[in-house]
Formats: sequence, C-alpha cells, structure tokens
Amino acid sequence: MSTCETVFAPYAAFIPDFSAFCTAMQTPRTCCLRVNTLRTTPEALQALLVSQGYDVTPSPIAAELLLVTNLAHPGRLREARMGYYHPQAFTSALASLILAPQPGELVCDLCAAPGSKTSHMAQLMHNQGVIVANEPAHTRLFMLEYNLKHLGISNVVTTRYAGQNFPRRCKFARLLVDAPCSGEGTYRWDVQGRMRHAPRAAGTPDDLPRLQKQLLVRGFDLLAPGGSLLYATCTYNPAENEAIVQTLLEQRPATLQPITLPVPHSPGLQQWKEQTYDVRMQHCWRLYPHQTGSVGFFVASIRA
Ligand SMILES: C[S@@+](CC[C@H](N)C(=O)[O-])C[C@H]1O[C@@H](n2cnc3c(N)ncnc32)[C@H](O)[C@@H]1O
Repeated sequence: MSTCETVFAPYAAFIPDFSAFCTAMQTPRTCCLRVNTLRTTPEALQALLVSQGYDVTPSPIAAELLLVTNLAHPGRLREARMGYYHPQAFTSALASLILAPQPGELVCDLCAAPGSKTSHMAQLMHNQGVIVANEPAHTRLFMLEYNLKHLGISNVVTTRYAGQNFPRRCKFARLLVDAPCSGEGTYRWDVQGRMRHAPRAAGTPDDLPRLQKQLLVRGFDLLAPGGSLLYATCTYNPAENEAIVQTLLEQRPATLQPITLPVPHSPGLQQWKEQTYDVRMQHCWRLYPHQTGSVGFFVASIRA
C-alpha cells in the first residue's frame, strides 16, 4: 500500500515534523469558502450559513475567507448556486492575497483555469481594471469562463496561448504564474490509509520543470518595470519550486520579496540533494498541511 511515509520519504529530510505531516494527510480538512464580495458580504453569508446549522469561523488572515468545520459538500448549497461564495483551499487563496492586485491595474493570470485565483483577484480589484486570464486547454477555458460568469466577474478577458509563448505586446503591473505541477500538495489518504488524490489535469506534460521554467521566465518578461509576479505550485518537489525560481534568478534581474502575512509556513530550501539554491530562497514559502490545515503549496513573490 502507498502510505504517506513511503510516498513522501524523499522529502522527510526537509518537511518539519514529518510524522505530524503524515497524520495531517489523513485528517479531513476544514472547508474554506471564499466569499464573493461582488455579490454579498462575509457577515451576511456567515449569518445565512449559521442559520442552517453550519459552524463558521472567519479566517484571521482575510475577512472574505470563511472556515466551516461541518460542511462536506460546499458546492451543493443554494448559496453556492447563487454565486455567494467559491469553495477554495485556504492556501490557494493566499496567492491572490500576496499578489494583492489593485483596482484599475492591468493584471495577467498566465495559467488561469478553472479560475479560482482569477476570480479572487477580480473581487480584490472590485471588478475594476483588467485581468487577462490565459488558459490553453480548451475544456478548462470553458470551466474558467463559466466560473467567471457565475461569480459576476466583468473585468476579465480570456486568451488561449501556450503561456510560454504569450505575446510580449503589453506589460502588466502584476502577474500570476500558478503553474501546472505534479500536485503533490493535493494528495490525500483516507482514514483507512488508502491513497486518494486529484488526478493531474489532462494534457499536463511530463517534463514539468522545463515548462515551469519557461512560464516563469516569460511571466517575468511580461512585467512592467517594478511590477510584481507570484509563482505558485501545489507541490512539494524542489525541482518544481526552488529550482524554477533559481533559474529565473540566474537568467533575469529578479528580486525575491519577503511575504508578510501571518500564516505558519517554512522557508524555501537552500539545498536539496546535490543542488544548492540562492540564499534569497528563504523568502519563498513552503506551506504544509500540518501547519495550515489546508493543501500543500509553494509561493515565491518576485519583483521586476
Ligand atoms: C494549477 S492549474 C491553475 C489553477 C488556477 N490558477 C486556479 O486557481 O483555478 C494550472 C493550469 O495551467 C494550464 N496549463 C497547462 N499548460 C500550460 C501552458 N503551457 N501555458 C499556460 N497554462 C498551461 C493547465 O491547463 C491548468 O489549467
């Protein structure tokens, strides 16, 4: 049987408190709902959910994130169908909060479907300014466009380029590279110890690090002077995280910025096997389930 201990054994050397990590991989996660502030308020949605018997606590990190302990199927409620919220992992929602797009800005989401982060950024921008949401996979572009319409988003245009070839015609104030990845952060084991995890998106290439490097470098080249870029993956693999950021630091004059949100995390690695990474990698965040109660993520905040 594929246990957490065997699957993630190669990472036991750098995941802090590895046994707590494996316990968390088998523990049901608290559901996180991102309130759609274009349609309602966190207070109003919380009151609606509490009146139906749900146990709701606002996240101390952001008012629009509601944590619900006793909601198994967040997509099934009437409030979901009305677009009052979007179910989104807490750590996934951190990406848009860290990038912090402002109303009126020109923003690019280079790998956008199904649109959780695009729609979060749109609401942070109060539907003002423009987000170019790019997604090359046709079926996933359809999901992206459905979600944007459902949530009442009106400041997004969609494009269908391979992100690494996205035209360099205009420059963006902020840009998100939420890269296709191996998805290890979403791996789960049920209480019987059986492995369950989300399958990779159709069309995800085998040589992910090569594509991730190309996407990050192209994303950086699309930034306006002084612009901000967030590189994110939902995986633990250093070859898809620190090694990708390392390539950018070697090829472009990029700055790694500290992230200041009060969220438990571990710093990026400075060494993995025979690889040594730039000391600035300490500003990257590794987010582990036993530290956050959510899915695993890696984020690097970069400035041109
Ligand atoms: C991690 S998912 C993005 C999730 C999305 N940001 C969200 O929050 O809902 C990565 C996406 O990248 C897309 N993708 C795959 N290859 C790509 C490429 N060459 N350029 C841009 N996007 C690509 C995948 O189809 C997938 O939809």
